[in-house]
Formats: sequence, structure tokens, C-alpha cells
Amino acid sequence: MNDFLGIANLDRGALERLVESASRFRHDRSFRSGALAGSRIGLFFEKPSTRTRVSSEVAAVDLGAHPVVLGQTEVGIGSREAVRDVARVLDRYLDLVAMRVFDHRMLVEMAEHADAPVVNLLSDIEHPCQAVADLQTIAEHCEVAGSVVAYVGDGNNVCHSLMLGVAKLGGRVRVVSPPGFEPLEELVARGEGRITVTPDTEAVDGADVVYTDVWASMGQEGEASERALAFAGYRVDEGLFARARPDAIFLHCLPAHRGEEVTDAVVDHPRSRVFDQAENRLHSMKAILLELLG
Ligand code: CP
Ligand code: NVA
Repeated sequence: MNDFLGIANLDRGALERLVESASRFRHDRSFRSGALAGSRIGLFFEKPSTRTRVSSEVAAVDLGAHPVVLGQTEVGIGSREAVRDVARVLDRYLDLVAMRVFDHRMLVEMAEHADAPVVNLLSDIEHPCQAVADLQTIAEHCEVAGSVVAYVGDGNNVCHSLMLGVAKLGGRVRVVSPPGFEPLEELVARGEGRITVTPDTEAVDGADVVYTDVWASMGQEGEASERALAFAGYRVDEGLFARARPDAIFLHCLPAHRGEEVTDAVVDHPRSRVFDQAENRLHSMKAILLELLG
């Protein structure tokens, strides 16, 4: 693995290794190591973050690396300085550059011009670090191979990485989205028949996992009211969650907009695993950093 830009281009073996390694870190929460001592890791954020920012920085420190956190206001990537020049400069200082960006093409350009591995901390197309933690959390509940994951809501970055990851590990994904908000067709096609897309919430029936994400992602705040109308029938409430298997778990990448895409009762449900899932961001980030730099 040279870069980690998405689940789409990751082979199954590498994904399995990441999930297994992340699970080992969860069983040894006090794990600290000097495995990455001397490594310098850049963490660049063009958008807000809590889980990704903190888990990446803590993962780097726990492995002995030195994190350097950068915001778009200071760097001005693409405005103050061309993307390829930022790539060449950061490459001289850092061993790995992890980035949260609006436009996925910025990550691709960075990876083209930097020798250091580039990691996607969320773009408009994928959120692959989230997907590793999601798969880890699903694997703590049931075998991913053979499982049925119902993703209800916007066919967005989180949906793309989740559906590709579940399909890659042998599970099935039913994406339930209102017309016009489905995941990208070319990514659905990569699921080789394991990903289906429907506007019908009956697709939640018998699922092992029910997953949702916000209706308006960061950068889409101006579309929030229009989207709230389109997604009105797609809120995950206790009634919809009850259509899944009686032992089904609920997942959400967080932050959740309580009362919009999901009700309080489901976020706080005894079978909600959203905070384990958030914790797993730390364990999975250790696995990702070690795979790229270890
Ligand atoms: N799930 C996730 O990526 O959360 P943050 O936006 O807080 O990093
Ligand atoms: N789809 C959301 C995920 C946040 C972690 C967004 O892009 O804002």
C-alpha cells in the first residue's frame, strides 16, 4: 500500500489486514510502541473534525511518531500555493501526509507529486479511514462475509467507502436512498452485485447492521432544508430499526444530527454501537499508519 486514498483501489488482503490489526489494538487499549519513532506525520484539515483529528494525532503519538497539524487558513493549499508545490514542500519535511479535503482530486494531485504516502481523512468521494473502523465494528458483531448492511440516507463519501469495504469482505449492502441522492453508479458497479440501491425502506428488513449518516455533509449546509424534504421518509427511528434483525446493531460515523437522520432513541439504543465505532477510529488509524510506515 503506497497511499490510502480510498477503499475502491484497495485489495481485499490489505483491507483484511487493516481490520485484523485494528482489532488487535482494541484488545490492547494500552498499546504504546516506538514502531514509528522518528516519523513525522502531517495532518491537514480543510474542514472541521473531532474524531479524525484526535484519533489520528493520538495514534501517531502512541506509535512514537510526531504529528504536525495544519489547517487550510494557514496553508492556503490551491489558493496561496499550488497543490503540487505544497506536495513537493511537505515531502521534504514529512514521512506521511494525511488530508481532509473538499475535492478528492486534490488528494490525487498530492499523491502524484509527493513521494510520502498520502492518506484520505475524508473527501467528497470517500472516507476510507472511517470504513476500516466501520468494518472492525461490524466484525465485532458478526462475520462481515455473509452479513447484510442496510445503509439508509445520502449516497455520500461515508456510504461509498462503507459499501465498497463490506462488499470487498464478502458482505452485502442495501443502500436505501431517495431518488437523486444515490451513491455513484461506477462505485456501486465495483461491488460486483453485492451492492443494491433502492428508494424502498423495506430493504432494511432482516439486516444485521443499520447505518446512517447526515443528510447534508460538510459544505452542503446551504442545501440542508431542501435535503430535509427529500429525506423526510428516511429517518432511522425505532420503527425502522425494528425492521432489521432482532439483534441488529446501529452504526453512524458521527457527528449525528439527532432528530434529523436518526432519533435519540436509536443513537442511545442498547444495540447502538456508535461510540465503540468512534473508539475504533483510533485503533484503525494505528493499523493504517503502521501499514504505510511500519
Ligand atoms: N466520523 C468522523 O470523521 O468524524 P469527524 O468529522 O469529527 O472527524
Ligand atoms: N458525510 C459527512 C461525514 C462526516 C464525518 C460529511 O462529509 O460531512
